[in-house]
Amino acid sequence: MALLKVFDPCAICLLCLVLSASELCNGGITGNFLRKEYSPDMPLDSDVFQVPPGYNAPQQIAGFLNHDRGVIISWITPDEPGSDTVLYWSENSKHKNRAEGIFVRYKFFNYTSGYIHHCTIKNLEYNTKYMYEIGIGYTIRRFWFKTPPRTGPAVPYTFGLIGDLGQTHDSNVTLTYYESNPEKGKTVLFLGDLSYSNDYPFHDNTRWDTWGRFLERNAAYQPWIWTAGNHELDFVLNLYEETTPFKPYMHRYYVPYASSHSTSPLWYSIKRGSAYLIVLSSYSAYGKSTPQYKWLRDELPKVDRSTTPWLIVLMHCPIYTSNWHHFMEGETMRVVFESWFVKYKVDVVFSGHVHAYERSKRISNIAYNIMNGMCTPVDDQSAPVYITIGDGGNHDGPAIGMVEPQPSFSAYREASFGHGIFDIKSRTHAYFSWHRNQDGYAVEADSFWFHNSYWNPLGKSFVAQY
Ligand SMILES: [Fe+2]
Repeated sequence: MALLKVFDPCAICLLCLVLSASELCNGGITGNFLRKEYSPDMPLDSDVFQVPPGYNAPQQIAGFLNHDRGVIISWITPDEPGSDTVLYWSENSKHKNRAEGIFVRYKFFNYTSGYIHHCTIKNLEYNTKYMYEIGIGYTIRRFWFKTPPRTGPAVPYTFGLIGDLGQTHDSNVTLTYYESNPEKGKTVLFLGDLSYSNDYPFHDNTRWDTWGRFLERNAAYQPWIWTAGNHELDFVLNLYEETTPFKPYMHRYYVPYASSHSTSPLWYSIKRGSAYLIVLSSYSAYGKSTPQYKWLRDELPKVDRSTTPWLIVLMHCPIYTSNWHHFMEGETMRVVFESWFVKYKVDVVFSGHVHAYERSKRISNIAYNIMNGMCTPVDDQSAPVYITIGDGGNHDGPAIGMVEPQPSFSAYREASFGHGIFDIKSRTHAYFSWHRNQDGYAVEADSFWFHNSYWNPLGKSFVAQY
């Protein structure tokens, strides 16, 4: 009692505040490079949006890795169906093979799409360069792709990471820096929010077409693994009665979801090199008993870490972020899925959505049960690293408002544009780097050596060990 009389109650409150703040103050680094400018769209007559010459010439060519040594090639013919055929041949062969595809179309309010072709090519040789042609007569266009190595535990492989790209000058800078990165990404893991067409009047779907032409210079030559974001929803109830979510996105980009026993193209898995990639949908139901919940529950135990040591999860909305932009939006998915990520030792969860970069420490927050009060993230070496790369450079500009002080779970964060590279070196090691777009050159602003969560550096399984 005597002590309480000595201290003013206000002083006690202040002391408590200082003590609690100091507990939160052990976060990592906040990058001091800040890009404040709003990013204007590239003009419609830019060369990146150019329509290829010739009547009904194929455009917006994009590739997706399929299971079973295959690829899915997608393209659009604007005026009439044209040909569904892809001719392809390995670099060292003169014999042209044929694959037949299909085409689909859709309407969205006052827009009718062109003829969207999807062609699956199967049974390709591993690690081989193939040429391919699409189109008819003088509109034939030729591209190439390289197939990946056979899946295996010690296969090096390099992924690029881009999110929230849009079609601004900064989008172009991000893509250009990715293309010129000496690390040479072989497949892009795209983290959602593609064209931002829903931000234009009437969800102007011609901006899907301009985006597809912008991307073609890269996506025709290497696969992009798609994750759906909120800008793909295209759900407009009152004005134009467009109530089929993801309609333009799902017509334009095909993914091999059925091969991983998924019932929706919005969540699926695919193996590549020594990685097992799991793509989730932040904007589809994921609560207990929903199709996505059941699929992930059944999918995670199937991952054989002796074949694919690296377990990577992609989702649009981050479940850990210390940026005020979209703060806590991923909390419900965290509650549902985080304990599985820890149980199955997911190496890394990549997200977009927040237009900034952030890398977490290995932390988890799975002890809370409503009654025990244990609701603070704790260090957990079985937990993934969470990386947000929503910084492709779309017209919303960077998300500059950060929670202060930097929370202890946050290792590095920065509100500028860029791309990431996840370079798998071996079964046990991978090098991650984040490359900031910095006025005229790309800078490796953050990097992190991953030690595989399942295999320790001596080649023994952590799980088998304990
Ligand atoms: Fe988003």
